[in-house]
Amino acid sequence: MKKYNPTFPNFPHMLHGGDYNPDQWVKTPEIWDEDMRLMKLVHGNEMTMGIFAWSEIEPEEGVFNFSVFDTMMDKIYENGGRVIFATPSGARPKWLADKYPEVRRVTENLQHEPFRTRHNHCATSPIYREKVRIINEKLAERYGKHPALLGWHLSNEYNGACYCEKCADKFRAWLKEKYGDIETLNTAWWTRFWSHHFNSFDEIEPPSKVGEQSVQGLSLDWKRFVTWNTTDFMKEEIKALRKYSDHPVTTNCMGFFSGLDYHKIGKELDFFSNDNYPNWAEGVKSCAIDLAINLDFCRGVKQGQPFIIMESAPGINIGGMNFCKVKTNEQQLLEAAKMISHGSDSIMYFQWRKGRGACEKFHGAVVDHYGKEDNRVFQNAVKVGEMLEKLDGVVGCGVESRVAFVYSNEQRWALSGENCVAGWEDKNGYYATTRAYYRAFYDKNIPTDIISYEDDFSKYDMLILPTAYILSEEMGKKLKDYVAKGGILVATYMTAVANETDLCYLGGTPGAGLSEMFGLRVDEIDSYAPVDGFGRPMPVTNSVSYGGKEYPLNGIAECIVPKGAKALATYTSNIQAGTGAVYENPYGEGVAYYIGFYQDGEFPAAFISDMIEKYGFEPPAPIICDEGICLRKREGDGENYYFVLNETEETKTVTLDKTYKNMLTGEEMSGMQTLGTCGFLILTDK
Ligand code: GLA
Ligand code: ZN
Repeated sequence: MKKYNPTFPNFPHMLHGGDYNPDQWVKTPEIWDEDMRLMKLVHGNEMTMGIFAWSEIEPEEGVFNFSVFDTMMDKIYENGGRVIFATPSGARPKWLADKYPEVRRVTENLQHEPFRTRHNHCATSPIYREKVRIINEKLAERYGKHPALLGWHLSNEYNGACYCEKCADKFRAWLKEKYGDIETLNTAWWTRFWSHHFNSFDEIEPPSKVGEQSVQGLSLDWKRFVTWNTTDFMKEEIKALRKYSDHPVTTNCMGFFSGLDYHKIGKELDFFSNDNYPNWAEGVKSCAIDLAINLDFCRGVKQGQPFIIMESAPGINIGGMNFCKVKTNEQQLLEAAKMISHGSDSIMYFQWRKGRGACEKFHGAVVDHYGKEDNRVFQNAVKVGEMLEKLDGVVGCGVESRVAFVYSNEQRWALSGENCVAGWEDKNGYYATTRAYYRAFYDKNIPTDIISYEDDFSKYDMLILPTAYILSEEMGKKLKDYVAKGGILVATYMTAVANETDLCYLGGTPGAGLSEMFGLRVDEIDSYAPVDGFGRPMPVTNSVSYGGKEYPLNGIAECIVPKGAKALATYTSNIQAGTGAVYENPYGEGVAYYIGFYQDGEFPAAFISDMIEKYGFEPPAPIICDEGICLRKREGDGENYYFVLNETEETKTVTLDKTYKNMLTGEEMSGMQTLGTCGFLILTDK
């Protein structure tokens, strides 16, 4: 495997830095110098500036003031650091919101927002786009040639949608472009149902919370439009920067966030970056898996290219949790090593320094209100910085996987649509299924990629296709072609039930021609909900028998009619008793597997373990690991870096198969090694 080009060719180092708001400290500029002293102490080399700084840079319409950032660009550079500069569009100043009401979003409840909070602009508003263009151009003109500048960070965590008339009009135009004529749309959305037929595109409204919620084709297209419009807004941001700067651009994403299709957004970015806030208090192993799957997703967005962790928490994260548990020293370091092991070329934080007021003042920061370096969180950041300085060789290295998960938020959108399947609402089942099968590989230390439907399938020996509920004819052909040419495909329940506009396939499912490939037909979709409609636990009344063990059902269970496929597992009870639940079907030179039920328990582990053995997948090195240790490898241009991570709170051992060099201590290592709680090794070939 070749190394990828470093994201920043003139600065091919692991980045260590984070969100820095010197604009919050204009009244105490001595803090800026203190920040420089502390940046060096922490082995920092990067600061992300400008996020939410619009009112500092343009305090009044057309009046620009760059003094803070002029000073800090120079200071950071003089102190050996570099800057990723953010465009300020994530929050707008009061004057802008007051003078131009259209820049404020109309919410899904059709309320026009007052000036408040952030991340709530209208992405369509020509005025907002124009104001963003002006300020972005000014920033690019001013800093595009500055030696401190590494790249651009667009806005902040683009998310959400606006339901204003301008957005509605744009949606109508988008639909017109997509469908051409209204009858085609009516057919695609099945609008004769409940008398929803449209006579013209002008009649269509976005599916707000208080509006239309019963046409899944509409809901799906709206979500697609929101991604498209966000991307369109983002492209205008990029265009403005490009006038004066060729530096690489990114925006900070949120992994499995379901509101946007990052595979589409990612195409416009020079590199992918993500915000990761693992909650180690949920349990080390469980947290490590959630983190790992997120990181593999990030690496997949740009076909394996390393990414940047734009934000992570030094100490506590105050978002989305009932209580904030501090991280132990070991957890903080393990977190950093883990992010690198899955493909990050940075550890960056939100935030560098805690502000004194407003709503994120207690959020973890490298520099606490206390302000000095003899603080536990700061000292952990020092250790991370020291570690990263030794890992420059890893920059640009990839991860080799023979297995990939094919994932799309479109499935999540379609599956969570109203009345998708009577009595079964999949708010999380798609992710839960993906995670359950991912974990099965993970626990055996088999690396997996997470790729999109548009990616090249042919480089993988095996594809896992979690519940591909909507699937186009074209995608059906792509999958058949993959298997016919020797690929192994494992698909789970409810595959190809409907096409891309959520019109169910006629003549038997899996549709899109896949029934033939799987050698079966799904006759009915039954479900064994874990709880009833009132949330009361339901008794388990059916299970799947596989390899001499029984696995209780807690979700969808399809009744399957085989058409040549061989059953590998059977249902034990009810109308499905004795019928097949998992099928294997050779097709062309490959094999297609179909798992007809949802199970987030032990079945995925048992089944995947057999697949691993049958098809000979192996961990990235013959290092013998105790259970609970994660083994990963990054490689490129003949260099190999091995990450051996103890993701448990117990002491574990590993046995090295040969002599390695320890990247962090420089010493040679061989034989048995002990890893304490959350301990890890980063090794390279001697
Ligand atoms: C997000 C945002 C940051 C900050 C953090 C807090 O990731 O991008 O601005 O609010 O959350 O965890
Ligand atoms: Zn709008």
